[in-house]
Formats: sequence, C-alpha cells, structure tokens
Amino acid sequence: MFPNKRLRRLRGSSSLRGMVRETQLSPDDFIFPMFITHGKNIKREISPMPGIFQFSVDLLEKEITELLEIGINGVLLFGIPSIKDELGTDAYSDNGIIQQAIKKIKSISQELIIISDICLCEYTDHGHCGVLENSMVDNDKTLNLLSEMALSHVAAGSDMVAPSAMMDGQVKSIRSALDEAKMIYTPIMSYSAKYASSFYGPFRIAAESEPQFGDRKDYQMDPGNIREAMLEISQDIEEGADIVIIKPALAFLDVIAKARNSFDLPIAAFNVSGEYSMLKAASQNNWINGPNVTMELLTGIKRSGADLIISYHSKEIIKLLNKKYS
Ligand code: PBG
Ligand code: ZN
Repeated sequence: MFPNKRLRRLRGSSSLRGMVRETQLSPDDFIFPMFITHGKNIKREISPMPGIFQFSVDLLEKEITELLEIGINGVLLFGIPSIKDELGTDAYSDNGIIQQAIKKIKSISQELIIISDICLCEYTDHGHCGVLENSMVDNDKTLNLLSEMALSHVAAGSDMVAPSAMMDGQVKSIRSALDEAKMIYTPIMSYSAKYASSFYGPFRIAAESEPQFGDRKDYQMDPGNIREAMLEISQDIEEGADIVIIKPALAFLDVIAKARNSFDLPIAAFNVSGEYSMLKAASQNNWINGPNVTMELLTGIKRSGADLIISYHSKEIIKLLNKKYS
C-alpha cells in the first residue's frame, strides 16, 4: 500500500483537519449542574471546584441570564435545604429549596430546560439517599418519597426529572406517579449506571451531602462491573427511562461505549465533580493547558458514545466553541 496511502495528507492544515474531524462538540451537547442554597444574597464558591458556586434563589437571575447568553440548553439542579431531617422532607415540600428555584428559573426563561435531581441525600440529616431501616437504606420505602419528590418538582415547573438514588424500581415508580398525575410528557433521565465512586468527593462538599456513617456501596454500583451496568440500563429502559446516564465518565468510557452499541436511546455521561477538580488543580498549577485538556477530555467522552454531557465545564467549553465559530 505504502506510499500510495499517506494518512498525513489530511492533517496538513487546521481547515483540513476540521473537515475530516469525526467527533465535534456542540453547545447542544451540554447540561450545566447547579447548586441552589437557602438564604439570601449568596454566591459561594465551592473550594475544590473553582468557578462553581452555590447560589441562593434571589441571585439566580443574573446567572441564568448569563447561561442563556452563552447558549446553554439545560441545567441540572441540586438543592441544599436549611433544615435536613430523617425523611428529607424539604425534598418534596411545596416550598422546598428546589421548588423555589424551579419557579424562579421558569419565571426568567421558558426556554431553558430545567432538569431536577431526584435523590434524598442532600435533604436527609444522615446523608443517605433514602429512608433508613436498621441503618440500611430501605429500597421500597424510599420509592414513594422519590415519587413524591418528582411530582412536586414537576408541579413547580421542572421539565425533566433525573432519579439518582440507585433504588431498584425507581424509574417505574416515578413514571407511574407522573402518569397518574397526567404528567405524561415529562421525560425521565435516569442515572442508570451510577457507580460508588470516590470522584464524588467535591460534590458532597458542594451539596453538603456526605453520608454521616458508612458509604453508598450497597446501592451504587461496584466500579469493576460493566455487564451489570447493561442490566441496570435495560431495566431502566423497560421501566420507562427516556435518557440514561452513565456516571462518572472518565474512568467508565468503556461502559459508555458498550451502552452506545447496545441501546438506541440518548445516552448522557456525567463528567463529575472530582474529574473537574483534578483538571482545575493541575491547570491552576500550569501543569497542563487547561482549555486544551478540557476540550480533549470532553471530546473523548463524546467519541466514546455519549450524546449529552453533564459537566461543570459547560460554560467555559461553550464559550470556547462559540469563539471558534465566530
Ligand atoms: C446524589 C448525587 C451525587 C452526584 C449526583 N447526584 C452524589 C452521590 O451520589 O454521592 C455526584 C455528582 C458529582 O460528583 O458531580 N445522589
Ligand atoms: Zn443521593
């Protein structure tokens, strides 16, 4: 074959490389996670996540306006209530922190897709993702509360719900509750393959949701498993999931790729807090070129098969992409 075929021929200039690039990131790919806290006039930076803040509801207007200007399609909301209790009551209260935030954001924009995280760990005083029974999270008792939470978010104006508690049957339970309430067009984006990962460390600081005892290994997945991830995903699809999430992203690209080959619905990858923190720490030390590495990592997540990327880098990466096209 050589030298008739020289693969370098298509690498000679930036425009040529652009023509033949197989994977291109687009602003449409990104969902931006946000932390909403109680109180007034709060914009508090999360120390291990430079550039990411907790916002109080009254300060959302400026931030949401900026997101719309940049061209972000969707946000994923996490709430930090003033009072946590055994049953995570604030999560499904009409006037809970997230319900207030959803109403506020809807009043600012009808276009921005509001996705709300459905899990109790930010709302319980013990920090676990469901109701405790003998120091274990009780699966079936938790299902009702997750459904209540989803109903209450959608009633407040949420466009999509994202159950992340890793309880068996959570998608079915939420789908039935929504359908019964005639909320038949509200999609469910399920955290189907959510691993028990140490990459969530910075998030638990941001969301103040560290479990007070034990860990989440008896409900989140073991990082060694990929076949089990396919079982989780197919089960969630049967239960009515419209989009499935694989989380974290970077250490699980093979799981994304396998899911891409096995299922035809949209797949989202969650580029989690610890992945963001590592990159920021190295880039602040000038050990790596931050924007270039961010672009490369996010391209890798998309190339592995993700249609959507939930990322704390969303704002900066869309700004970079917009610069490229302007
Ligand atoms: C809540 C939840 C977590 C994340 C998303 N939803 C944390 C956890 O399970 O402890 C992690 C997100 C991140 O690290 O960015 N269940
Ligand atoms: Zn949780």
